[in-house]
Amino acid sequence: MYKGEYIALFNDKELLTKEKDSYGATHAEVGGWFLEEALLPEEIVFPVYYHHDLEKIEKHKGIALAVALAEALVSKFSSNTTSDGIYNEEIEQTLLSLGLKEKDIEDIGELIEVEQENIRTFFGL
Ligand SMILES: [Fe+2]
Repeated sequence: MYKGEYIALFNDKELLTKEKDSYGATHAEVGGWFLEEALLPEEIVFPVYYHHDLEKIEKHKGIALAVALAEALVSKFSSNTTSDGIYNEEIEQTLLSLGLKEKDIEDIGELIEVEQENIRTFFGL
């Protein structure tokens, strides 16, 4: 599959299923395997591997949650940058329970908007 076709999958609600069907693995699994092969510590490998499967992670769950929340926030606020996160009421309640205020979430949104071009350039999108 080509880059453009893969990027198009990012806005698909069935991303993980389509990745499995097309490649036999999700981006989370491939990312985790890559980082493990690169000998990065489990504090990085586990959260990447499980960021879409939080119920299966025991160690470093907080970091995995941070990755999932970051993807959700990008998904909520980014109009151009692709993201596989899902922002919903549960995510918002989690953010608020962690001590963020609605204004903090709005501020993050403004920052994402400002940084979008840098993000697109960094990832070659
Ligand atoms: Fe992801």
